[in-house]
Amino acid sequence: MHDQAGHEWWRSAVFYQLYPRSFQDANGDGIGDLEGIIRRLDYLNDGTPRSLGIDAIWLSPTFPSPMKDFGYDVSDYRGVDPAFGDMAAMERLIAEAHRRGIRILLDYVPNHTSDQHPWFIDSRSSRDAAHRDWYVWRDPPPGGGFPNNWVSAFGGPAWTFDEHTGQYYLHSFLREQPDLNWRNPEVESAMHDVLRFWLDRGIDGFRIDVMGMVVKHPDLADNPPNPEWTPGHSTYRQFLWTNNRNYPDVFETVRGIRRVFDAYDERMAVAEVFGTPAEIANYYGGEKLDGLHLAFNFQFIHESDLRGGFTPWDARTIHRLIESSERDLPPGAQPCWAFGNHDRPRFISRHNSDGRGDERGRAAALLLLGLRGTPFVYYGDEIGMVDNTAIPEERRQDPARYHSIWRDPARTPMQWDASPGRGFSRAEPWLPFGPADISVAAQDHDPDSMLSLYRDATWARRNEPALREGTLELLAANDLTVAFIRRAAEGRAVLVAVNTSAGVASLPMPAPGRVIIATERTLDRSLAGSLLRLPPFSAAWVALE
Ligand code: NOJ
Repeated sequence: MHDQAGHEWWRSAVFYQLYPRSFQDANGDGIGDLEGIIRRLDYLNDGTPRSLGIDAIWLSPTFPSPMKDFGYDVSDYRGVDPAFGDMAAMERLIAEAHRRGIRILLDYVPNHTSDQHPWFIDSRSSRDAAHRDWYVWRDPPPGGGFPNNWVSAFGGPAWTFDEHTGQYYLHSFLREQPDLNWRNPEVESAMHDVLRFWLDRGIDGFRIDVMGMVVKHPDLADNPPNPEWTPGHSTYRQFLWTNNRNYPDVFETVRGIRRVFDAYDERMAVAEVFGTPAEIANYYGGEKLDGLHLAFNFQFIHESDLRGGFTPWDARTIHRLIESSERDLPPGAQPCWAFGNHDRPRFISRHNSDGRGDERGRAAALLLLGLRGTPFVYYGDEIGMVDNTAIPEERRQDPARYHSIWRDPARTPMQWDASPGRGFSRAEPWLPFGPADISVAAQDHDPDSMLSLYRDATWARRNEPALREGTLELLAANDLTVAFIRRAAEGRAVLVAVNTSAGVASLPMPAPGRVIIATERTLDRSLAGSLLRLPPFSAAWVALE
């Protein structure tokens, strides 16, 4: 379970979320694949500070799938989709990654399968089918209408009527993604076997898709209306998801999944969950920590997906989010942070209304990698990729306006160089590229580039116990800066300071120090006496004496 210093490896690891369709195409079909990922492993970590220096990758789903929801509709949990390669390629990827010390998480999708999964094909074949009760079927209510008021995350009712057997089935997402019935022990056991199948093949763990929805209210009771919803807004927000998300019964299922991991050494799971830090804490198992190893805190993206809007880049907000996470997680639980993912606009695009998104993106790198917890970097953020919002209608791929957000713009292929195929593919890519001037090649040898900043930061973090595993102590909140001290047991301390304002901010230094890394070079010279002068939108790590 432990690294050389006696810690569980995932506690000090930097993770990288990689969207396989968009990372590297090796076979020339315009879609990224496993062979492509293997070719790019040295970029991720070749053991030297010339590489990005991440410790682990999470691959968005790679299983056979009709790709209605780009892999989140799984038709076989034990294979590899031909678009990405085959089992031999996956085995090679695991071996090649491990050779470089990179761990691999797959994406476990327990809430639903594809409607093309043999379990569902059997389930819908007749009311007496062996797998009928593996999914959630209900009669139409006597007065007509749907079995309850639940809506799909993609809009519209969460129920589809099946003419053949005369019942509705539940789908919290697309109708091609029927929800599994985890209250059926056969389902639980079959899904545990899926985990074992991959853990036995050397996978280091899983990101778990919508963990909090897997077990719902036993009677599928209606959800209460969301008082903040007004007509004309997404139906996703019309109700509070009280009876189908974070429902208390789900935590027993979480513990069951944890027990599967505990039979193996050095494996881990990180859950996709939505809620406040207090709600997220339950997924760790509370005080006993017998739940999952990590659960995402998405509050830097949005504080509530039912309210809409994104979290502003603002010192007081950031201070409050860190404070609540530190306060509400049980002792021994470690936060898990992501500032972006394949479901949301990219960080820079969310914070660019005044054209200063790039600067905020640099500061965000030092915040994300400076926080106490496990950081997840979304592929391309390390080179400052932005959303491609100009994708023409006929090139759009995302079937859903997820929570009324369209996801293609943040999923465009990785930009390796400025050539027409961006070093990604020799064919037309599955989604159009973003601007050509943002690429690995353009930044590789520029010490001031975003890529160099990320590299410097991951390697500095690796070499600094205060950042890797230190405690976090917030300094007093103010309007311009957010700052905290990371302190390791052996007395080393690092100040992490971020100026979120458009003006220069001066921060009183808690102790004399030396700038380790900063978003701007001039910061090296800005430690004047007991004040740290932070230029607009800048951030710094300062080793304290
Ligand atoms: C959350 C995933 O991140 C998203 O991409 C997917 O559409 C839904 N879960 C359904 O699996």
